[in-house]
Amino acid sequence: SKGTYPYYMLKEIDEEPAVMRRILSNYQTDDQSHEFKIDTEILDAMQQADKLYIVAAGTSYHAGLVGATLFEKLTDTPAEAYLASEFGYHMPLLTKHPFFIFLTQSGETADSRQVLVKINQMHLPTLTITNVPNSTLSREADYTLLLYAGPEIAVASTKAYTAQIAVQAVLAKELGEAKHVQAAQAFDLQQQLSLVAAGQQQLVDEKDHFKELAHDYLADQPSAFYIGRGLDYDVSLEAALKLKEVSYILAEGFAAGELKHGTIALIQDNTPVIAFLTDPTTVGLTRGNIKEVQARGAHTMTIVSQALATADDQIILPDVDDLLTPLLSIIPAQLFAYYASLEKGLDVDKPRNLAKSVTVE
Ligand code: M6R
Repeated sequence: SKGTYPYYMLKEIDEEPAVMRRILSNYQTDDQSHEFKIDTEILDAMQQADKLYIVAAGTSYHAGLVGATLFEKLTDTPAEAYLASEFGYHMPLLTKHPFFIFLTQSGETADSRQVLVKINQMHLPTLTITNVPNSTLSREADYTLLLYAGPEIAVASTKAYTAQIAVQAVLAKELGEAKHVQAAQAFDLQQQLSLVAAGQQQLVDEKDHFKELAHDYLADQPSAFYIGRGLDYDVSLEAALKLKEVSYILAEGFAAGELKHGTIALIQDNTPVIAFLTDPTTVGLTRGNIKEVQARGAHTMTIVSQALATADDQIILPDVDDLLTPLLSIIPAQLFAYYASLEKGLDVDKPRNLAKSVTVE
């Protein structure tokens, strides 16, 4: 039940730190030699792979974009996220030894399932990462890993997004260890996930601040932009989807450097442009892009990791490893979507035209 919460969406955002801790404790081993327990069968199959294909829809696809970077950095294996609705009918040329990861909160999404059916006909190895044990995609894949996010009721996915990133991190860490990849060996994921849980708690406790910012920046606006580079670009896509689906503000997630190649024409007085800045290699470039839109009248906001923060930034994120910043930076954006929807008097949990699980192609 919602308990004292007015909407499930807010309850589910508040649960994110607890979900991180649950993932940590459910995947943790007592055995000192390994940090996390992942079936050796899964790791063996994945070690044969020359590329990891992550297939998903909507928010799960956005979690897959982040996951692809985690797999590449920690396992030295090429990885790419694909939209399920595109992949099945316009399949790219596959590598010799593909391994498929289906990301799906519900385990019932028809677009993802049609791909799994095709991949099964090709007898290629498959893993479903899902929140629902015994769901269709779980039963039909070779292997399953669970998200342990607890039931997600609000149509807009929040805690499943962060859970999907965390479980992919766990899998990437263990696969990287199995492959003796130095980056994985050096990555203390247990400690990092504890830091993430504490950092998320700090952010959800700041919700009054985000409510004010949502009011100042988004309430009366017909459109908004989220921008970033690298993982921050991936988060921008998810932040924009959240805002669109629950507040009906036309939002776009944009690669910060691409804005000037056309879309900057849409920037007018007061257009909100919210930038994620957690990538040290491109922070200077993105700060330049912020200046460009400011000069055209944009109302800019920055969501910045501690190490890169200046006195002028609006939101400073608690400190975690650069690879895991999406687990923190999405939280203010989820809360912006929630409060913008609330302020417009909309039904936050049941946006028009949407169903929780999309069982048609
Ligand atoms: O259950 P799934 O993760 O497979 O669902 C995929 C999408 O339908 C889902 O993430 C959808 O985009 C949400 N409404 C996003 O908030």
